[in-house]
Amino acid sequence: MTQELIIPEAARRLVDKASSIVAFTGAGMSAESGLATYRSPKSGLWENVDPTAMASIDAWARDPEPMWQWYLARREQAAQAEPNAGHRALAGIPVITQNIDDLHERGGAEDVVHLHGSLFEFRCTMCARPYRGPLTNELISCPLCENLIRPGVVWFGEMLPSKEWNRAEELIRDCDLLIVVGTSGIVQPAASLPLLARHVLEISPDPTSLTPISDYSWRTTAAIGLSALLHWIR
Ligand code: APR
Repeated sequence: MTQELIIPEAARRLVDKASSIVAFTGAGMSAESGLATYRSPKSGLWENVDPTAMASIDAWARDPEPMWQWYLARREQAAQAEPNAGHRALAGIPVITQNIDDLHERGGAEDVVHLHGSLFEFRCTMCARPYRGPLTNELISCPLCENLIRPGVVWFGEMLPSKEWNRAEELIRDCDLLIVVGTSGIVQPAASLPLLARHVLEISPDPTSLTPISDYSWRTTAAIGLSALLHWIR
């Protein structure tokens, strides 16, 4: 059976009519690459780790060591993972992602907006100077001001980067179809962005908080759904 035969009529109509498509993705995008999501029952990261203890600026100020090692371990996991067919299908269009892995880039996407930063970027906690030196399991001091080098990700309690936010708003307002893939749609302010889109096609195996605002919600996975839509989103 060709891929296209599995596309529901409502999804096909949305992509057929679209002349400019943008993707908005979350952790479910990388599930088929073997990386854990945050809230999937049993396997979600937040099922086993307290986000306030491992993903907040207060926890970093209080006890940075365990966070440092956890993010280095997650960076290693992401580096070992491979982009899936869903990442590759999105290679030709702009992607706004909440993900901090680099699988969209390694899947060929050239215009990726990271709303929550990246596991592969580091900077000084205080002077914000980017750090590209060697990484060790021990905490690293900034060569310029001697404060701690931190992961270049957005933690709970922190603002999203304004350049990426403005770019995401612009992309969504200018496109005529936003394909939302692999996000539960509950973490603000990122989850408010799809509300700006003229039309939304959601791809998710489960209903999410963004299902009610979607023109159609396709109960399938990122790799299956996006590779079936390849002809329209290349
Ligand atoms: N294909 C598509 N979607 C999937 C797949 C898959 N193979 N597997 C799971 N999903 C869906 C789940 O049903 C869920 O709706 O992906 C979604 C993942 O939701 P979350 O784990 O909440 O991840 P996300 O929405 O990206 O979280 C947003 O929360 O903790 C913060 O900063 C963190 O960026 C993250 C933000």
